[in-house]
Amino acid sequence: MSWIGGKKALRDEIIARFPLDYSRYIEVFGGGGWVLFHKAPERDFEVYNDFNPNLANLYRCVRDHPDELCDELRYMLNSRLDFDYVREMMHSKTDIPDIKRAAYFYQLIRYSYASGLDSFGAQPHSMWNNFPLIHNACERLQKVVIENKDFEKLIKQYDRPQSFFYCDPPYYNTEDYYEDVGFTRKDHERLANALCSIQGKFLLSYNDCPEIRELYSRPGIIIEGTTRLSNIAQRYEAGKQYAELLISNYDTTAKIKSHRQLSLFDLYDESQQILKERKIIWTSEANSHLTSPKP
Ligand SMILES: C[S@@+](CC[C@H](N)C(=O)[O-])C[C@H]1O[C@@H](n2cnc3c(N)ncnc32)[C@H](O)[C@@H]1O
Repeated sequence: MSWIGGKKALRDEIIARFPLDYSRYIEVFGGGGWVLFHKAPERDFEVYNDFNPNLANLYRCVRDHPDELCDELRYMLNSRLDFDYVREMMHSKTDIPDIKRAAYFYQLIRYSYASGLDSFGAQPHSMWNNFPLIHNACERLQKVVIENKDFEKLIKQYDRPQSFFYCDPPYYNTEDYYEDVGFTRKDHERLANALCSIQGKFLLSYNDCPEIRELYSRPGIIIEGTTRLSNIAQRYEAGKQYAELLISNYDTTAKIKSHRQLSLFDLYDESQQILKERKIIWTSEANSHLTSPKP
């Protein structure tokens, strides 16, 4: 489902950079789950996490009660009046049972403008068309652990040498786009400190800005620049690109190189092209004059 900051446009590039071997996959800022749902369900142990309690509850209900959730959604109306009522209920202190709360939240995502949860989208949309998606998601999530923790606690809890964390935090300067969780400027630093001291591997996606480049220009870290089509800007400027950073503490070319060795001509050319087009902004080797201690 669409979600603010969702990685639909970047998911292939992200998965192409996953490490070759890991036995725990942890998606720290799960949101709409675009990467988790696109990734093959291998035999690894998988965790979906988001600090937004409504998202974690929605995914738990999709996994454990898909039929009851569809029943709750069956007669929801695509109407402004209904939308405003549900939004008010979700903001009130009323105690709403989990499945009903999941249905309300799903309704807000599906019927709001640009999935911002706030204002009615006034777009044609059949709720019933979502039922097969809910059942597919239920199957995919069967063995996925769903958590609702702040990133720092989660990272500490699941960190092992064989863990791989994919992190897609609120972007710098867009912290207040996510209404049920408060992310602050300080949290970007807290995240960098947590990630730069783990035993496992991490891959992090961010908007390209000087503050984040500076924060991660540290020994052992690789910063790569990439671009993607900007979903929102497509509405008024077709083809508009958005600059992103992919930051890691391991060599992200290993998977592409291993495909290259296994493949014949077509894929070989494609992977060669991907490797050639890589735009490395920072590695401690290339910038060792900046990171090595002064004599
Ligand atoms: C950019 S979105 C993730 C989008 C997701 N990768 C996707 O493709 O849909 C960032 C997410 O971080 C979550 N978040 C904000 N603060 C958090 C925190 N302290 N710990 C964990 N998750 C948090 C937000 O609720 C939001 O869903």
